[in-house]
Amino acid sequence: MSAPNSDIDPVQVAALSEAAIGNAVAKALEEIKKTNNLEELKQAKTTHLGDKSLIALANREIGGLPPEAKAIAGKRVATARVTLSEFYELRESELVAEYEREILQSQKVDINQVLASPDFSLRKFGSRHPLTQISEIMSDVFIAMGYEIAEGPEAEAEWFNFDSLNIQPSHPSRSLQDTFYLTEMDSGMVLRTQTSPVQMRAMLTRELPLYVVAPGKVFRKDELDTTHTPVFHQIEGLAIDKGLSMAHLKGTLDHFATTMFGEGVITRFRPSFFPFTEPSAELDVQCFLCKNQPNSNCRTCKGTGWIEWGGCGMVNPKVLQTAGIDTDVYSGFAFGMGLERTLMFRYSISDMRDMVEGDLRFSAQFGSVLR
Ligand code: DAH
Repeated sequence: MSAPNSDIDPVQVAALSEAAIGNAVAKALEEIKKTNNLEELKQAKTTHLGDKSLIALANREIGGLPPEAKAIAGKRVATARVTLSEFYELRESELVAEYEREILQSQKVDINQVLASPDFSLRKFGSRHPLTQISEIMSDVFIAMGYEIAEGPEAEAEWFNFDSLNIQPSHPSRSLQDTFYLTEMDSGMVLRTQTSPVQMRAMLTRELPLYVVAPGKVFRKDELDTTHTPVFHQIEGLAIDKGLSMAHLKGTLDHFATTMFGEGVITRFRPSFFPFTEPSAELDVQCFLCKNQPNSNCRTCKGTGWIEWGGCGMVNPKVLQTAGIDTDVYSGFAFGMGLERTLMFRYSISDMRDMVEGDLRFSAQFGSVLR
């Protein structure tokens, strides 16, 4: 500590002399400049701008100076502080930029890199969901027969989903218990309950003759359990041509069943009713597990010997007329089946929930499919 100042010149206090402060600043600038990283810079800050720095010590001396000297010394110290702070900030921004550059370099990920390990068992491969796969397999069967893929929206006009397909307003499937209405019952929009509305969309937009399949998602108010899910998938088929008959329908579906369940599989039509087909049938496939000896232990067919696979029939002339098709010239057949059910039969899956829960261990089993 210096003795109390009697003179106005702060030079009398050595620490406050222009030379001392000038030296302190020069030394500090030099050292700040030499810092190589943020850690060193922090150290330099403590040394040259901290409580025990020369500048701070000099600052403390100011208090003992006469008023005029105080002003000069104060300015001198403040200028030194500003110079050092500005230089410190400049160096800090340089070092931060350098640090970020290094991080970007060292943590770079090469997204094109091929895994070095030649050991396939160490590689984790993704796999598409079996529903996607079955949808493509099914579609391919029809593409090979000259069909095209048709699409429609999942949020569908009630008219396409029901009315255009001859499903009357009083039909139980249209109730709030079964169908998801968007916003309210009278909105005119539903989450489609079947892929059949794509039939009408295809008939209204495509040229005849017409051969299409439409795989897609459908929605019904069902609880999720071993055999139901509120969101599931169907594939719809529609053929409109001159002279099509039930025989063409049966031949087409027999070929479809063979490709899905194997050579020699037996099918049967069971009379049924759908508002949009006349006549209508349920398509059953003989249980390929217990074959001709139905046994009550068979989980696949529950001992009946047959599996209900889908619905089908000749397109109701009323539906053709709604689409403006001349029923004296053209006839058509249609069919629709569930993808989840198909998967369950094909791979003996007993719980439908496995297909919606997204457990990768389930999907991984279908990683490669032998067709
Ligand atoms: N849409 C029917 C359902 O969801 C399935 C169906 C039956 C589709 C007969 C058809 C058909 O095209 O002709 O239960």
